[in-house]
Amino acid sequence: MEGRVGRTALLVAAARAIETHRPDSLARDIYAEHFVLAAPASADWPVRIQQVPDGDANPLWGRFARYFGLRTRVLDDFLLRSAHEGGVRQVVLLGAGLDTRAFRLDWPPGCVIFEIDREGVLAFKHQVLDGLPAAPNAARVPIAVDLRADWAASLTDAGFDTAAPSVWLAEGLLFYLSSAAETHLIDTVDRLSTGGSALAFEVKLDKDLLEYRDSPLYTSTHHQIGIDLLSLFNREKRPDSAGALVGKGWTTAVHTPFDFSRRHGRGPLPERNDALAGNRWVFANKRRRTRP
Ligand SMILES: C[S@@+](CC[C@H](N)C(=O)[O-])C[C@H]1O[C@@H](n2cnc3c(N)ncnc32)[C@H](O)[C@@H]1O
Repeated sequence: MEGRVGRTALLVAAARAIETHRPDSLARDIYAEHFVLAAPASADWPVRIQQVPDGDANPLWGRFARYFGLRTRVLDDFLLRSAHEGGVRQVVLLGAGLDTRAFRLDWPPGCVIFEIDREGVLAFKHQVLDGLPAAPNAARVPIAVDLRADWAASLTDAGFDTAAPSVWLAEGLLFYLSSAAETHLIDTVDRLSTGGSALAFEVKLDKDLLEYRDSPLYTSTHHQIGIDLLSLFNREKRPDSAGALVGKGWTTAVHTPFDFSRRHGRGPLPERNDALAGNRWVFANKRRRTRP
């Protein structure tokens, strides 16, 4: 796994492993623990909550991991709804990391899953998956490209059809990009999306991320596994990507994660000094053109 951003993919994988083994799991990913155990950086991290001495009281492996479990579930549901009810057959995972949705979700026939991430992350993913009895439930097309560069041609060269509807996911990605790169990414998704397409992404609305630098989530992640999220997040003023999409003919719904904790009856709820306070999950749909 190259670089510190790649390690955040391992963090999310560890959270998904822990979620998988919970009796009341929100999402199951049987591959997640294999990534965690295979990478030297994470081989000694827990993959079950029982391995954490203070269990659910641990801010990183308790509350934060459950947050990732909830996010996984909500975005699984979003993608499957687009495919099964919306009839979409092209799925694009932007900053896919160790996402195994191609393998673990029930896709309708004819689905193609494009997974975009950096070469080192995808190489590690394939090395681990190749050692497991893992077969994708859809056509899977990994694309090694940097999302700060001009990645549209890489996607269309790999078979993405701009004339057919698509569903896009930027899960845990935009915080790491500069403001200009986020705007470029959203503009590119819009340009490649025909009416009937959908997009989900996560943003942080905090005016100043450092306001929460002493929060249990940030400090425990830093002290327990050496990942200083605040040094990885881009701290430029963020663009209003949801607003920009509305201007381009999309409808959007913006939710807090806590909305879904309440809906599912489990997951993180607001607390004091909460690094999750500004997180929003945005669900966008591009309107179909009506004939004049
Ligand atoms: C926190 S991980 C999330 C991975 C995955 N979406 C998930 O939720 O499990 C962020 C991912 O974005 C990828 N990423 C960050 N910046 C990127 C860039 N400029 N180009 C391509 N991938 C990038 C990282 O390599 C990493 O795999």
